[in-house]
Amino acid sequence: MWTPGPRQICLGFLSICLLSTIFFLHVYRDLFQSAFDLTILRPPRYLKTTPVEFFCLSRTSGTVNSSCRCPQRPVSPSGTWTFQPDGRLGNQMGQYATLLALAQLNGRRAYIQQAMHATLAPVFRITLPVLEPKTDERTPWQSLQLHDWMSEEYAHLDDAYLKLSGFPCSWTFFHHIREQIRSEFTLHPHLQREAQELLRPLRLGEAGARPRTFVGVHVRRGDYLEVMPNRWKGVVGDRAYLQQAMDWFRERHEAPIFVVVSNGMAWCRDNIDTSRGDVVFAGDGQETSPARDFALLTQCNHTIMTIGTFGFWAAYLAGGDTVYLANFTLPDSSFLEIFKPEAAFLPEWVGIPADLSPLQEVKTAVQ
Ligand SMILES: *[C@@H]1O[C@H](CO)[C@@H](O)[C@H](O)[C@H]1NC(C)=O
Ligand SMILES: *[C@@H]1O[C@H](CO)[C@@H](O)[C@H](O)[C@H]1NC(C)=O
Ligand SMILES: *[C@@H]1O[C@H](CO)[C@@H](O)[C@H](O)[C@H]1NC(C)=O
Repeated sequence: MWTPGPRQICLGFLSICLLSTIFFLHVYRDLFQSAFDLTILRPPRYLKTTPVEFFCLSRTSGTVNSSCRCPQRPVSPSGTWTFQPDGRLGNQMGQYATLLALAQLNGRRAYIQQAMHATLAPVFRITLPVLEPKTDERTPWQSLQLHDWMSEEYAHLDDAYLKLSGFPCSWTFFHHIREQIRSEFTLHPHLQREAQELLRPLRLGEAGARPRTFVGVHVRRGDYLEVMPNRWKGVVGDRAYLQQAMDWFRERHEAPIFVVVSNGMAWCRDNIDTSRGDVVFAGDGQETSPARDFALLTQCNHTIMTIGTFGFWAAYLAGGDTVYLANFTLPDSSFLEIFKPEAAFLPEWVGIPADLSPLQEVKTAVQ
């Protein structure tokens, strides 16, 4: 009788993996296209509607399927890839993680630009080497602007010298190496210590009481108050959303404490219900900065996000339950051409749909 050797078993297994991926992508794309046909009137010129590639991940849970290995890449990478940094902390974290993951996948060495190092290194113990400006000038870079979800083609890029750009912040690029990403974004000890010093007295409360659970609440305001409605036909998290999200945690945890971080603290103080005595505002009587705010959120056990990459990263690194604002644009928003919710929010995160009625009112008023 013929018994398959390890080689045959391995090959057979790889074929099964490949076939099931193709099947899945097919079904998925059909579903998506029918949804998209209704919402996108004008297809974007520079974006093909490439399907999201759930690379090395099990389809339902979004967790790594350890029996379906990522392709083995050369042990000694060749060529050099970098990323043209743009935006603030959250954007550059997305760019860093995407560079790391894609370079690894394609067997290339990843180097960061000095500007990215200047943004990230004061906060995290990142390890990617920095590109010398002279080397940067002399290198014959190819360039590639990424969209914000993993595509099949990104796993087979031939360029030895590639400068990536764009605003990727999707777990579909890097979730299969999430332990490595978490380790790259380890806080410097002084930031972690400061955050813990703020939380510790709140955690223990009265003697003998059970330690309390922290929920970091990131309320993105500032420029988004203009950008969302005017540019993207969208809204930011409002008072009712925050109330619902906090109630979600109150139903599931005994006496949680909500730690609010925002670039619009005055609004938060006026709009977040503090009557239960379970809300604290970051920076009360303390000096604050994006790095300190970020550290505080990641040291909490769970996260409430509104919108933006800062909140995404806080939730991703905190690693607990996450509630996010879902469907925060009108269906015909061009934002949906560059942002795919299923590639932005982990499948296990909980979405609460936004109230879009303020946008309808604007529309009615204009008509
Ligand atoms: C992992 O992948 C294999 C082959 O595609 C599949 O049979 C198995 O159910 C997957 N495991 C999980 C946990 O999704
Ligand atoms: C919750 O967060 C606090 C503060 O970082 C930490 O001390 C505690 O161990 C965390 N609890 C759990 C269950 O992870
Ligand atoms: C967002 O809208 C889509 C399409 O209407 C819907 O299928 C989905 O359930 C909504 N998400 C949430 C979290 O409500």
